Amino acid sequence: MSNLIQLMYISRATFKPTPAVQGIEPNVARILQSSRINNAKVDVGGVLFYGNGHFFQCLEGDKAAVHTLLERLHRDDRHTDVKVVSEKPVHVRRFDDWSMKYTAINDSIKTLMGKFGFKSFDPFQFDAQHFEALIDALEKMNQPDDVIDGNNPKQSSKKSSSRADKERSGLITMGIVALILIAGVILVTQLL
Ligand SMILES: Cc1cc2nc3c(=O)[nH]c(=O)nc-3n(C[C@H](O)[C@H](O)[C@H](O)COP(=O)(O)O)c2cc1C
Repeated sequence: MSNLIQLMYISRATFKPTPAVQGIEPNVARILQSSRINNAKVDVGGVLFYGNGHFFQCLEGDKAAVHTLLERLHRDDRHTDVKVVSEKPVHVRRFDDWSMKYTAINDSIKTLMGKFGFKSFDPFQFDAQHFEALIDALEKMNQPDDVIDGNNPKQSSKKSSSRADKERSGLITMGIVALILIAGVILVTQLL
């Protein structure tokens, strides 16, 4: 039986934000890099959001793997006030293609904050409905402007397999064309 869970938590960053490099805060970039490597090994996925000095992270994976990660997260001094806001068993993953999707504050999130009546992103003010709306918005973000793709192991393997698929279908098409040509030549020689 599957022990798949989805766990969401919020926390406050302890570092002072430094200017973003290629659209991403350098401390967050380091977190993301090790997250993607570690999570791919234990089949944990999800999304990380960083904005206004706060983190929101949704983790999906085997219960034991997610809890082991949560213990490490509690010990990580790059953030504080780690608060689990939801944990539930699930049948399907919402972030199946990502060992860790990443999104920083953008127009969609700003619009969402406006709808909630918040001036800035402060997840410590959120209720359950706010978190559901946030996770929906983060799931939908696929545009390069919204999502910082970086080096995502799951995504890059997906990309290379679709390239391989294209090459395979190209070869099949060439084979069919060659067969039609040979059949045509045989037909013409039989008729002559
Ligand atoms: C906000 C935040 C989110 C993090 N998310 C993850 C994660 O998804 N996966 C992970 O392995 N480490 C994550 N980390 C880092 C862990 O706390 C820990 O430093 C790391 O897993 C240790 O692994 P390493 O020794 O390979 O760096 C996160 C840290 C922070 C501050």
